[in-house]
Amino acid sequence: MKTISLGLIGFGTIGAGVVKLLQENGPLLESRLGAKLHLKRIADIDIATARPVAVDPAILTQNVKDILDDPEIDIVIELMGGYEPARSFIREAIGHKKHVVTANKALLATYGDEIFQEAQAANVNIGFEASVGGTIPIIKTLKESLAANQIQSLMAIMNGTANFILTKMTDEGKPFAMVLKEAQALGYAEADPTFDIEGIDTAHKLAVTLALAYGSRVKLDAIYCEGIADISQEDIEFAREFGYRIKLLALAFQRGDRVEARIHPTMIPFDHLLANVNGNFNAFHIIGNSSGSVFLYGQGAGMMPTASAVVGDIIAISREILKDVALLVPYRSLGEDRMADIPLVAFDDIRTNYYFRFMAADRAGVLSKISGILGENDISIASVIQKGRKKDGAVPLVMITHNAREKDVRIALKRIAELDVVHEKTTVIRIEDERLK
Ligand code: HSE
Repeated sequence: MKTISLGLIGFGTIGAGVVKLLQENGPLLESRLGAKLHLKRIADIDIATARPVAVDPAILTQNVKDILDDPEIDIVIELMGGYEPARSFIREAIGHKKHVVTANKALLATYGDEIFQEAQAANVNIGFEASVGGTIPIIKTLKESLAANQIQSLMAIMNGTANFILTKMTDEGKPFAMVLKEAQALGYAEADPTFDIEGIDTAHKLAVTLALAYGSRVKLDAIYCEGIADISQEDIEFAREFGYRIKLLALAFQRGDRVEARIHPTMIPFDHLLANVNGNFNAFHIIGNSSGSVFLYGQGAGMMPTASAVVGDIIAISREILKDVALLVPYRSLGEDRMADIPLVAFDDIRTNYYFRFMAADRAGVLSKISGILGENDISIASVIQKGRKKDGAVPLVMITHNAREKDVRIALKRIAELDVVHEKTTVIRIEDERLK
C-alpha cells in the first residue's frame, strides 16, 4: 500500500484536531484512499506543552526545515496563521514542489495572488477549505458543485464570534462588552478580537470567497467593512419591533458586469434562514442562476470541525497524487492566468434599505424637518416609530426607508446632524428585506 507523507506546521488547537482526526479515523481514511496517510513531522515553537492528543515525541521539531527540506513529505499543512513566517514557509514548500493545505484566510486574502500563481507554476495544489466557514464546504461548493452557475448573490455569516455576541445580546439582553468577554473565555475570538468584531476576519473570508464566485482578484481594502461594536440593546429592540434580527453579514451581488461586496451589521426578517443561524454557527445563502437558493450551515470554527475541512483537503490532494494528476480543479474556479479584475460597485452607489435612529427633541415640527431633508435627497420613508423615555431632552425617532442610495443617505444625514433638534450621532443600520424594495 502506498504512503502519503504529511508535515504539519503549527500544533495549536486546529493542528491538534488534525492529528486527532488522522489517528481516530485512520482505518477509514486508509480504506477510502487505498493508501496510508503518514504524519511524519510536526513543527511548532512550543513542543513542550501537553496537547489534547498523544504523539510520538520523536516527530516533534522546532525546526520547520525538517519539514520543508524533507523530500519524502508530499503535503505541508500550515496551521500557524498570521502573515509571516507562514507566507515564507508556504512559498518555500511550493518551491520544493510540495502541496499545501492551509486555513489561513488572512494570508490568502492578502497574498493569495502570489501564492496561487507560484503554486500553479510549480504544478502543486493548495487546499484551503478550512479558511472560510470552518467545516462548511463553501470552497468546494463554489468551485465544483455550483461551477455551472452564475452566482447572483451570496449572503453569509462568516464569523462565529460576532454571531455569538449578537445572538447573546439579542436573546439574553446582555451588553456587548460582557458578551465579548464570554466569547473570549470560550476561545472563539481570534487572537486579536478586533478582527472578529470589526468585520476584518469576515472581510478576509469574503475576499477569498469572491475570487471563487466571480473568478476575480479582489483587493481586500476595496470591500466596505463595518463591525458590530456600536450595536446597542436599543437598536436590537427596535429591530425586533420591525420584525428583524441584526446579523453581521457578508454580502455579494452580481450587478451587471460589476460585483457589489460589503460587510456590515444587517437587519434581516425573522423568517430569513440567516436570521435563525445563532450562536457561533456560520452559514452561506447562495443563489445561482440555475441552482436557485442553496443554503450551507455549520460550525465556522473549533478544533474538530475545522480539522474535518483540513483533512478533507488532504484526502483530495492525496487522491491526485495517487492518480499522478495535478490541478484537475483550479484553485479559484479559473486558472490563475484567466483570473480577472472585476471592478466592485462603488460603495456610494449601492442601493439598499436603511434603519435610522435619530435622537431628537420631542416637539412640534421635528419630524417634518428630518423627513423633509430625507425627501429632498430621494429617500422615501417606509415606517416611523417614536417612543421611549426622554434622555437628556431627546427621544429616539426611528425610521425605516425604502430603497435608497448610500451617497444620498450620507448627504442627508450630514445635513440632519447640523439640525439643532438632533442631539446625538444618528445610528444607521442597513436592511436586507425583499418586501421593502
Ligand atoms: N475567529 C473566527 C470566528 C474563527 O469567530 O469565526 C475562525 O475563522
